[in-house]
Amino acid sequence: MTDHEIQLNDPQTLYRRWEDSQWSPFAIDLDHDREQWAQMSGEDRDLIFFVLSSLMVAEERITTKFSGLLSAYGSEEEATFLATQQVDEARHMQFYARFQDEVVAEPDLIAAHVQRARANVSAAFRQIFDVELVAAHERLVSEPSSLAAKIRFVTIYHLILEGTLGLTTFKFTTDHLSAEGLLPGFVEGYSKIHHDETRHIGYGVWFLRETVRARADAGEVVRQTLRDLLPSVAASLAPPDTGSDRDFAAIGATSEAIRDFALSGLTRRLDIIGVPLSTL
Ligand SMILES: [Fe+2]
Ligand SMILES: [Fe+2]
Repeated sequence: MTDHEIQLNDPQTLYRRWEDSQWSPFAIDLDHDREQWAQMSGEDRDLIFFVLSSLMVAEERITTKFSGLLSAYGSEEEATFLATQQVDEARHMQFYARFQDEVVAEPDLIAAHVQRARANVSAAFRQIFDVELVAAHERLVSEPSSLAAKIRFVTIYHLILEGTLGLTTFKFTTDHLSAEGLLPGFVEGYSKIHHDETRHIGYGVWFLRETVRARADAGEVVRQTLRDLLPSVAASLAPPDTGSDRDFAAIGATSEAIRDFALSGLTRRLDIIGVPLSTL
């Protein structure tokens, strides 16, 4: 326990921030992106295509495997905040689908974009989003009053998917695109999504810290969830397996830098929650 208490925003505060943070995925100008995408080629375009595919698939899962948490609310303020997160995730999915419609491919249903993008994601990614997330959500849907089911779901969703994989992908992708002056509309939309994500992660850290403080057995559920998921998380942060031996050099980052960034953020959040990584 640290000497000074770290101030975390409660669900009511996060809800008030949401009211002041509205944006439309259809108001972002994608004209430059369309022109640039047509002219991009080689590894640069391949790697961005890989990231876009991952985001399209992830955001569909994140949107459709969330509603169980709404039924597991602990207070009316928490139920209110969670309703806003459900809207945010649908909005994010709509932005990535619009980018597919107008920049990467032809206009199509979201399911068709997701299905096409699925060809480009890794086995570790599928393990996290199609197996672990889906199982944790189904359990929460069938047992909404199970605190252990809720803790496991929030650990996977908010701490691992949003807090570890999501923040890391955002940082290295937007650093690269901004430095190269590429896809400004995509960067603008992704940055608004990132702003929403910081609220979501704030909720997850708040919920886990409060629960670990109140319940002696809660920390062990967080630990077990991390033990189950971390091998897949590490594998999914590795470069895409395209048959070549390329690294993330195409986006100006090393695998080591990416791992370090992901791990240091996770370590910091686990310390706040009261379940240090060293206790795993
Ligand atoms: Fe999202
Ligand atoms: Fe989110």
